[in-house]
Amino acid sequence: VPTVGIIGGGQLARMTAPAAIALGVRLRVLAADPDDSAAQVVVDAPVGDYRDAAAVTAFAQGCDVVTFDHEHVPMPLLEDLVAGGAVVRPRPQALRLAQDKAAMRACLTSLDVPCPRWATVRDKAELAGFAAEAGWPVVLKTPRGGYDGKGVLVAENPDDAAAWLARAGQPGGTGLLLAEERVAFEQELAVLIARSPSGQAAAWPVVQTVQVDGICREVTAPAPGLDPGLAAEATRIGLRIAGELDVVGVLAVEMFQTAAGPDGAPGDAGGRVLVNELAMRPHNSGHWGMDGAVTAQFEQHLRAVLDYPLGETSLTAPAVAMANVLGGRSSADGGSAMGIDERVHHLFAADPGAKVHLYGKQVRPGRKIGHVTVLGEDMTSVRARASAAARWLRDGVGE
Ligand SMILES: Nc1ncnc2c1ncn2[C@@H]1O[C@H](COP(=O)(O)OP(=O)(O)OP(=O)(O)O)[C@@H](O)[C@H]1O
Ligand SMILES: [Mg+2]
Repeated sequence: VPTVGIIGGGQLARMTAPAAIALGVRLRVLAADPDDSAAQVVVDAPVGDYRDAAAVTAFAQGCDVVTFDHEHVPMPLLEDLVAGGAVVRPRPQALRLAQDKAAMRACLTSLDVPCPRWATVRDKAELAGFAAEAGWPVVLKTPRGGYDGKGVLVAENPDDAAAWLARAGQPGGTGLLLAEERVAFEQELAVLIARSPSGQAAAWPVVQTVQVDGICREVTAPAPGLDPGLAAEATRIGLRIAGELDVVGVLAVEMFQTAAGPDGAPGDAGGRVLVNELAMRPHNSGHWGMDGAVTAQFEQHLRAVLDYPLGETSLTAPAVAMANVLGGRSSADGGSAMGIDERVHHLFAADPGAKVHLYGKQVRPGRKIGHVTVLGEDMTSVRARASAAARWLRDGVGE
């Protein structure tokens, strides 16, 4: 029986556990803390620092494959791991592009993959130079370490960017920032691909994602109203990136769909797609598949990194909606006094079709603590039910 090691003990590792059980695969998780989301449910979950070479090397001993819950493991450490004989999937050369948004932009541009206009900038003068071409506002991103919009700033003018540029320029800072045109998108899309070492690839239907304040709130599968030609184009781009970068495992490609018009290709009624960013692991935009796809991303990731044939990716219902449950205010801070299990109890009474997934995480306002999926015939109604359920679990009060 193969052992798959996952570095990082967050909810992605936790949700891989049921898939490992079903496949009869042993799962080992390198957790940062015994109370990590995955460490609560995985028997073999040693605690160690993913930045510590000794801890990671010891963890990898006895793993047939090492893969990831997050992209923060330092590159030199991963390279040493590979040199020492560990099987690391995706391989460090690919993962590098998920760690560094500036490197990712440069690579995608060299592959002619459509992206927003971008440049790297070090100071106000370089930023002003970029804005003179792309216009204000400019979207600034720290190349590394961002998540849930935390490394993203919309700058309306050079002064807005001053503090970020200064921070990047400090010792230990990233040195530069990624500047992007602000895309006036119609909707955000995500394409999830799984690819195996032997080169087999499978794509799930293109989904729509909705971000509020940089955090993913809702995902609907398939993306409602998406032009079939554009969906095919998005899928082609995703498959091409997976192949060119030799990604193994799940690859999420976040995209913007622009409106048809001056920016769109002539005669292209559906607008076009631009790549936002890449993640090389299971991703929030694929959680819907645990209930709504024949093969969920967590099972598929295991199948891919183990080089098993991949599973079917089609929907199990015509319309699938997932809504993230964010942490609400504590009762001490004016929030509901009702505990999460009592909220779940009421939700199940109100909507027996709602599928709840909680991550065992400490509640903090705005933090992702779970998600709800609803399947059905009609997108408008499944979407309303999923978001009402997520809001109820967050707030513990009705509308
Ligand atoms: N160039 C852009 N134009 C318009 N909106 C953008 C642009 N870049 C990012 N955004 C908005 O900010 C959100 C977060 O950006 P991005 O995905 O780059 O950051 P992140 O913090 O790494 O996100 P994640 O949580 O997915 O890792 C996007 O989903 C989108 O809504
Ligand atoms: Mg993103």
